[in-house]
Amino acid sequence: MKTVLVTGGAGFIGSNFIRYLLQAHADYRVINLDRLTYAGNPDNLRDVEGDARYEFALGDICNRELVDYLMRRVDMVVNFAAESHVDRSIMGAEDFMRSNALGVYTLLDAARQRGVERFLQVSTDEVYGTLGEGDPPWTEDAPLAPRNPYSVSKAAGDMMARAFAVTYGLPVVITRASNNIGPFQYPEKRVPLFITNALDDLPLPVYGQGLAVRDHLYVTDHCEAIDLVLHKGTVGEAYNVGGENEADGVAVVEKILEFVEKPRTLIQYVKDRPGHDMHYSLDASKVRALGWRPRYNFESALRQTVAWYLEHQDWWRKIKESVEYRAYYERQYVRR
Ligand code: NAD
Ligand code: TYD
Repeated sequence: MKTVLVTGGAGFIGSNFIRYLLQAHADYRVINLDRLTYAGNPDNLRDVEGDARYEFALGDICNRELVDYLMRRVDMVVNFAAESHVDRSIMGAEDFMRSNALGVYTLLDAARQRGVERFLQVSTDEVYGTLGEGDPPWTEDAPLAPRNPYSVSKAAGDMMARAFAVTYGLPVVITRASNNIGPFQYPEKRVPLFITNALDDLPLPVYGQGLAVRDHLYVTDHCEAIDLVLHKGTVGEAYNVGGENEADGVAVVEKILEFVEKPRTLIQYVKDRPGHDMHYSLDASKVRALGWRPRYNFESALRQTVAWYLEHQDWWRKIKESVEYRAYYERQYVRR
């Protein structure tokens, strides 16, 4: 029996990963350490709450005493815990620096003292910055050149993880994934925001002219890649996880409207995000060489995501009706 400390497991990707891991490995236990910020939602894991192999620990990855206590009970760590939304980081990045930089350091140092088997840091394609016109997709050797407060805080965690491998020989692996979509994504991110707004005939706010390009990855494809890198990745190395599903803002909004059967008149072009990264693109051949393949393309990933939001209206309506969400929405969109 192995025990994995999954941090941030009450969020979007972490909750999908815990469900995936418990199904994929009958001999694994999971401890989920999560602070339950606005993005952490116990509803995301109702179906595994009763599993004897699952345990929830309410707390902060910056709390060294708690982290030390939990670290003594685990063999591996997968760190998802983070502030994850670029627009919120533009409003103020203190929580981002705390959780995404100091929190990663706290986990790494506790893991070093404990001597864990593996530490996987969940990073992002955003650490590479933005791709120039005609540039090839990023390989893992591309320099980290983040340009917004979120991506800077994630790059700090990514680089600290690498430093712990180099300096102390901690068995660290890093994944850098593109934009995930799928069940349980908080409706501040573009895809769930647009799906849920469209279902309520609300405007879909497209930043600038909708020309920024993102790669899309279905969340369970990401979970499979993390599982593979955790077990088969080379210590000290990073792995890009991209779906080869690039689309610009106009293509994404039009596809969503097609799938939810709503008119294009719902599209509303709004003031651009400051410092908007215009193009992310990953070369994922390194993780493919380990045997990983995405099961979903952009169409099937989006279709599956739309179907989930249609079937789980209680889940997202509860969030969208909350005071926290309404205050954020007003600040980000109404007073834009
Ligand atoms: P999310 O915002 O949905 O969830 C983050 C979770 O972390 C929440 O449950 C929150 O309560 C928890 N958390 C935050 N700060 C914490 C702290 N200090 N201590 C303990 N728990 C804390 O995020 P997500 O979209 O699921 O992203 C998960 C990870 O994957 C993040 O590290 C993010 O940077 C990375 N990532 C996300 C994407 C994406 O498209 N969403 C792509 C690539 C990488
Ligand atoms: P987002 O989901 O915030 O992810 P990220 O910025 O981390 O890639 O945004 C994805 C893209 O969608 C990005 O180019 C910004 C754009 N966007 C909009 O056009 N409107 C919105 O309301 C949001 C949230 C994002």
